[in-house]
Amino acid sequence: MGLMALRPIVKWGDPVLHSPAASVADIDGTVTALVDDMVQTMYAAPGIGLAAPQIGIPLRVIVIDLSVGEEKGQLIKLVNPEIVEREGEQRQEEGCLSLPGFGGTPTRPARVVVKGLDLEGNERSYAATDLLARAFCHEIDHIDGLLFVDRLSPLKRDLLKRKLRKKARTNDWDE
Ligand code: NI
Repeated sequence: MGLMALRPIVKWGDPVLHSPAASVADIDGTVTALVDDMVQTMYAAPGIGLAAPQIGIPLRVIVIDLSVGEEKGQLIKLVNPEIVEREGEQRQEEGCLSLPGFGGTPTRPARVVVKGLDLEGNERSYAATDLLARAFCHEIDHIDGLLFVDRLSPLKRDLLKRKLRKKARTNDWDE
């Protein structure tokens, strides 16, 4: 049994959120402990997804649970995930735990196929649509150093970034 801990969520402006994360070379005890902490932190927030850079760890690890822990079998823990197929488009409002109080509607694929490794090192594959497809894209963007803001139209992006820079400068987030 590990000692699970809530980790502080890193906010927009921290370099760890804006640079690509490294692939996990070896799924050892450090990685499984990291994933435990990520799940706890996601549920406590509460949120439906979290990527390791959001707790300051620049590794390609994501967790997603659309039920926020309410339904068994919904929790997805994926190491080195990548989108291997994408088709169509959807646009829905998204938020992010690293930009509390802000939202936007980036264009996402309607359907994706995502591959990655589970904590036993086995390859896992998910075909996803709707909210789950958006969640995969959002979290995989995080490990590529991208936030939903970066996928908005230039006008909306610039407007939002002006507000975000002010928040980051004063470290005054609506939580
Ligand atoms: Ni996010």
